[in-house]
Amino acid sequence: MRERIFIGVAWPYADGQLHLGHVAGAYLPPDIFARYHRTKGNEVLMVSGSDQHGTPITLKAEQEGKKPSEIASQYHQQFLDSWQKLGISFDLFTSTGTANHAEVSQDIFLTLLDRGYIYKSSMLQPFCSHCQRFLADRYIEGTCPYCQSSGARGDQCDECGKPINAVELIDPRCRHCGTTPQFKDSEHFFLRLSAFRDRLLAWVKQQAHWRQNVLNFTTRYLEEGLKDRAITRDIEWGIPVPVDGFGSKCLYVWFEAVIGYLSASKEWAKSGGDEEKWRSFWQGEVKSYYFIGKDNILFHTIVWPAMLMGYGDLNLPYDVPANEFLTIEGRKLSTSRNWAVWLPDYLARYDPDPLRYLLSINMPETGDTDFSWREFVRRNNDELVATYGNLVHRVLTFVYKNFDGCVPTPGEFDSHSQELIDKAGDTLNTMDKLLYCCHFKEAIRSAMSLAQETNRYLDDKSPWKMLKQDRQASATALYVAISVLSCLRTGLYPFLPFSSQKLHQLLGFTGAVGDCGWQLHFPPPGQKLLPPQPLFSKLDEELVEEETSRLGQTCY
Ligand code: MF3
Ligand code: ZN
Repeated sequence: MRERIFIGVAWPYADGQLHLGHVAGAYLPPDIFARYHRTKGNEVLMVSGSDQHGTPITLKAEQEGKKPSEIASQYHQQFLDSWQKLGISFDLFTSTGTANHAEVSQDIFLTLLDRGYIYKSSMLQPFCSHCQRFLADRYIEGTCPYCQSSGARGDQCDECGKPINAVELIDPRCRHCGTTPQFKDSEHFFLRLSAFRDRLLAWVKQQAHWRQNVLNFTTRYLEEGLKDRAITRDIEWGIPVPVDGFGSKCLYVWFEAVIGYLSASKEWAKSGGDEEKWRSFWQGEVKSYYFIGKDNILFHTIVWPAMLMGYGDLNLPYDVPANEFLTIEGRKLSTSRNWAVWLPDYLARYDPDPLRYLLSINMPETGDTDFSWREFVRRNNDELVATYGNLVHRVLTFVYKNFDGCVPTPGEFDSHSQELIDKAGDTLNTMDKLLYCCHFKEAIRSAMSLAQETNRYLDDKSPWKMLKQDRQASATALYVAISVLSCLRTGLYPFLPFSSQKLHQLLGFTGAVGDCGWQLHFPPPGQKLLPPQPLFSKLDEELVEEETSRLGQTCY
């Protein structure tokens, strides 16, 4: 039966470049998942967009002397370019700057207001007497009341991941001038999260399939009680609060960004010519997945579900497979210290699949993992090239040359050959189960172990030596190897879409590899192969030194 899968992917702030931490944490996993489901014939809708509002972007605009909208569209273009080069296959990557998004956000706001889930109240807001304005979110910094780390902001502490109200900050100061702000009353709207606490807790307790870290973090937070949160701000850049007298205030960036999942689905439906089609991914038999980094967990396991409960008739998340962090050369990634590998830089210099490979096989699924350039080169040269690429290349060049450029006709399989074929089928089944529950790292490992097994099989059979004395035996072994390649082309497609498509064509198949189904296809004997080309190339060790020295440089 065809399943329906909704995939929401974290909306990146359009205030800076993407780096490998973003890719490993939030962007590569959903792409693997989407490609896998599409290959199985399931219906997938994968959406995201750039998060254009809020103080991250106004701060950046001020630093660069530009308008927030200029910054937003510049980075939005860059994101689109990166998705295309890295092969992140969104059905729609839009932005929170569209009229559609404003309309959907305001509708949700007004509906929740109408139902009493949003209420008006005044709150103490930090006001800088020097700058003469209210300091929303990132314009105020201080010490976290929960974990005591310095550098917490007016909306969240990055260290412990907890949301914060600006009044709770210890030793607050204005981000611009360092002045200690005064707190003044300001009228705002609040989301009545407290009303959802019991329902949320009961719901979360049923989510035994969630990752342990996501489940624990969410449960602990709910068990401590749930405070109502302000969802409007004293800023000009954003979606206006649709209530008279509030014209100078905007919806809080997080409140409207999560609504992006729904507004993007509606935009997708409209642009496909069937306005109501979004419903098929939000109502009824659909599984909804939200792929995010661990710093966004509570917004997706508590805030967004509460908003959905309040609004009604829309599906709650089925899973929120949040990843942990990627460190770089053993150190915590830091954009301000330029301790990061920027995605556009990577894509300008290297192919997408080697990065997709490394970040898949070393994915920070259950704990932080490290990226190093040495490891990048090693994984590329010793695994991608030596284990998989060379296997493909030696089989295909030999067959191409000695069997008229066609898939050879096999004789009967002996037990070793049958075992390998069985293992290929089993590998696809195992990967199917693993991918279905978002265990990406284990899934790609099982594909690589099949490639290794095939190398051993060929060492044992030596079809190259056998050719003269027993052409049939040689043809059989090569046919078995080609069949395994056909299996690897499918199993590795979600991870390595570019090289899988290339292999698909080298094997003489036409069309798109992703349209072939999740099954072992035996290439028909006699099928014409394309002239072989290597799938990957070896990387020079020297790049390790060169790339590592770029890290942390402030001028670039
Ligand atoms: N822009 C936020 C960030 O980069 C993520 C928003 S995800 C959302 O941390 F969809 F919920 F908006
Ligand atoms: Zn100030």
